[in-house]
Formats: sequence, structure tokens, C-alpha cells
Amino acid sequence: MAPSKFLIFFLSCFLLSFFVIARKELALETTEEEGHHFHTLQLSSLLPSSTCNPSTKGDKKKGSLEVVHKHGPCSKFSDDVVKPLTVEEIFTHDQSRVDSIRARSTFNKGKKDTLGSKATLPAKSGSTIGSGNYIVTVGLGTPKKDLSLIFDTGSDLTWTQCQPCARSCYKQQETIFEPSASTTYNNISCTSTECSGLTSATGNTPGCSSSTCVYGIQYGDQSFSVGFYATDKLTLTSKDVIDNFYFGCGQNNQGLFGGAAGLIGLGRDKLSIVSQAAKKYGKVFSYCLPSKSSSTGYLTFGSSKAAKGVKYTPLSTSQGASFYGLDLNSIYVGGTKLPISPSVFSTSGMIIDSGTVITRLPPTAYSALSKEFRAQMTKYPLTKALSILDTCYDFSNYTTLTFPKISMLWSGNTKLDIAPQGVFYANGVSQVCLAFAGNGDDSDIGIFGNVQQKTIQVVYDVNAGKVGFASGGCA
Ligand SMILES: *[C@@H]1O[C@H](CO)[C@@H](O)[C@H](O)[C@H]1NC(C)=O
Ligand SMILES: *[C@@H]1O[C@H](CO)[C@@H](O)[C@H](O)[C@H]1NC(C)=O
Repeated sequence: MAPSKFLIFFLSCFLLSFFVIARKELALETTEEEGHHFHTLQLSSLLPSSTCNPSTKGDKKKGSLEVVHKHGPCSKFSDDVVKPLTVEEIFTHDQSRVDSIRARSTFNKGKKDTLGSKATLPAKSGSTIGSGNYIVTVGLGTPKKDLSLIFDTGSDLTWTQCQPCARSCYKQQETIFEPSASTTYNNISCTSTECSGLTSATGNTPGCSSSTCVYGIQYGDQSFSVGFYATDKLTLTSKDVIDNFYFGCGQNNQGLFGGAAGLIGLGRDKLSIVSQAAKKYGKVFSYCLPSKSSSTGYLTFGSSKAAKGVKYTPLSTSQGASFYGLDLNSIYVGGTKLPISPSVFSTSGMIIDSGTVITRLPPTAYSALSKEFRAQMTKYPLTKALSILDTCYDFSNYTTLTFPKISMLWSGNTKLDIAPQGVFYANGVSQVCLAFAGNGDDSDIGIFGNVQQKTIQVVYDVNAGKVGFASGGCA
């Protein structure tokens, strides 16, 4: 294998309804309205807990994969394999992921190049793994070998480290997948259409080694995986089995995968699991990210598991082949609509991403958000900023908190109330921050991140061109 050939990578609510109500009921309505716009809860419920308390809502779903936070007590990863990240590291990695998404997104590209305000970025420089990763455990091969993979809606290729690790494998929690021990493993030939499909899925032209297709994927933070492109049986659950699943069998792997055996690509492009299993699941999948790292969520393929109350917003495809683009129209804080011109959101565009931690907004929108949030939170003392988060409170003297609800109104008049755990990012009781941040420039792409997706069932219906939300999907 000549890794140099392919290691030449590019740089790296609800509908606003106005009910006609009888005058008599008006007084009562007002009180209910107030409760409707604020969350009141125990401060402790915003803080991490050290024991795993699996969600009884999510993981009881049949045919679902359990989703756990890599660094939480529900993950089986031990601290000597996965060193927990510091808060600073989490935010540094999160920013690299945001930067790499911006580089890969096609939205606004032409505009920037014409203006010459940004360096011309390569068409695809790979995504960054980031740090806010959730993992699922799947079975690969025959007999099946359990592997914990990072799940990523921002990339397409699925890969795992493979024996004999011809060049390098990083330390992972489970033993490394052994292709020679699987009776259903097959190498993919260099001349197959799936091999050429790697170019769009990874941003790199595939290589060829004794007629076996060789993939290479580099992530923005210097992490990479290179190896043989192969097929094997993928067992998601006892009922959900995909024969001849295409994946990367990594022989040279390095980076920030923190003990996970690899990655499962849930992007929109043709080699992703979503596209590969299109016949079986109709390009529908859904997940719920738990409220805390000490709880569990789920990942489900197929439409049957979608909750009844799901409200959909159209999928926009102008952000790039892999990404799930959404159109945000407005933001509400404690029932007050922020004075942001809709053109602010339509100029930046937005994607929903499972791997970005903190939601990124155009700076004009973020300043309106933090201004209104601060105005409604004056009874609590502000404290110093936490990295990219500048609206932070010291709650040391409180046990119960009352704070405004944040809702996002998406195209199609779909209003999503962010769960209470999605409003704040806590670095201990004395520094609890509004978990949103502004981008550097109003033209930079917005990202709906995973803190804000907590406890929401997010349904991706790619064929129907829509993404849906339902509150209370998991605990
Ligand atoms: C897959 O291809 C590689 C490179 O040609 C080879 O070393 C390996 O033995 C092959 N594995 C199988 C199971 O054919
Ligand atoms: C907490 O209360 C004490 C006593 O009233 C006060 O001195 C202190 O400044 C308060 N701390 C914060 C962060 O509000």
C-alpha cells in the first residue's frame, strides 16, 4: 500500500394560533401563557451526574440503537482509553468542526469568492470529528463483532479500524475488527462504481492496491483513516441487518476518535448508510440525543418509529451534498419574537448537525438573542465568559431556576421549543452559559447543534425532503 498517493488530501409550538376565546377565560389564559414561556426547574437537573440512568423512553423502543455520549457514565469507555476532554478542548474542537463545515458547505461560496473576502477553500476539506460525539454500537461481520461508532450526520463514509492495522491503529475500547475472521467480508474492486463514488463521499480520489479499492478520508483536525474499501454484513439490531454494506476497513488511522472503533456516516450523499439502506428504510431515520451524558437516547432507521406529533420543515439542499440544510425564520425568547430581519437567516443558510455542540448563528441574530435573554434574566448575576459563550450566570445561590423558553421557527411554520437542557451549557453551578454562539460573519453558515437537539426526536425523511421535530423523544 502506498499511502502517499492517496494521502495527498486537500486542506484541510406550535403554529402561532390565535384562538378566539371568550372574554371570561382571558384572565386564566394569561397565567397559563406565562408558564408557557418560562422553564422552572432544579439547577441540579442541568448538571452532569456520575451514574448512568438510561432513558426509559428512548431505549425501550424496539429496533432502535442506543445512543450514548462518549464521555458520559453510560459509555463503556474507560478513562485510560478515552481521556475526558477539558471544557477548553471541547470548544476548540467544536470550532474546528464549525470551520470545516464552513469550508465544505457550498452555500455562499460564490459570493465570498467574488468578494475576495475569504481565501478560496478547497471544494471539500473533510469534516472534523469535533468533541460532542455520540456513539452507537453496531455489529459487523459473521460472526458479528460489536463496534462502537461515532454517529455523524455531517459525513457519509462509514469506516472502522481493521486488522492487521498495516500502518497504524489508535487505541480503541473494543478489540479491532478482523476481516479474516468474518466469513462475509469482501474487498471491493478498483473498477467498481462504488469505488469511484468515494470521490464525492470523501473528497479524495480513491487509490488501488492489488486491484482492491483504497479509500482515504481526512478530517479537519488532522484525524484520518485510510484503508481498503470493503463490504460485510452490518447488524444494527436483530431485525435490522444490511448485507453487503460498504465501509472502510482502516489500515492507517489516527486522530481524535477517542476510543470509538470508527464512524458511521449518516450524511445525504450516496455512500452513506442512509443511501445504502434506501430500499429498506426509504431514506428515513430518526434519533434522540439524551438530556445529559448520564442518560441514553436512540437512533432508529425506517419511518415506523416516528412519533405522532412530529412537525416537519423542508430540507434545503443548497448547503452541499452531505449536509441537511434547514431554513430558520425567527427565534423567540420567553414568547418575544426577536427583531431579526428574515434576510439575516436566508443570507447565512443553516444546517442541522449531530456533531457540532453549540448552535452557531449569524452574529446579528446572536446579539439579538443574548440581548433579549439577558433582559429577561436580570435577577441572576452574570459572570465571566466561557470560551465562545459570552452570556454566563453564577447560580451558586440558587437551587431552583426560572428562565425564558427559547423557540425556533423554521420554514413551514414549524415551531420548535428547545428543551430546558438545551438552553444552557454548565461548567459547574458558578458558570452556566447560554449555549448559543455567533459566527464571525453574517455570511457564515449557521449550524443547529447537538446541545439544542437534546431530548427532541429528530426525524430525517430524505426522500420526502423534510426534517421533523417532536419534543420529549427521550429523557
Ligand atoms: C483485501 O485486499 C488486500 C489488498 O489487496 C489484501 O491484503 C487482503 O488480503 C484482501 N482481503 C481479502 C479478505 O480478500
Ligand atoms: C450569594 O449570596 C451571598 C450572601 O447573600 C452574597 O454575599 C454573594 O455575593 C452571593 N453570590 C452570588 C454569586 O450571587
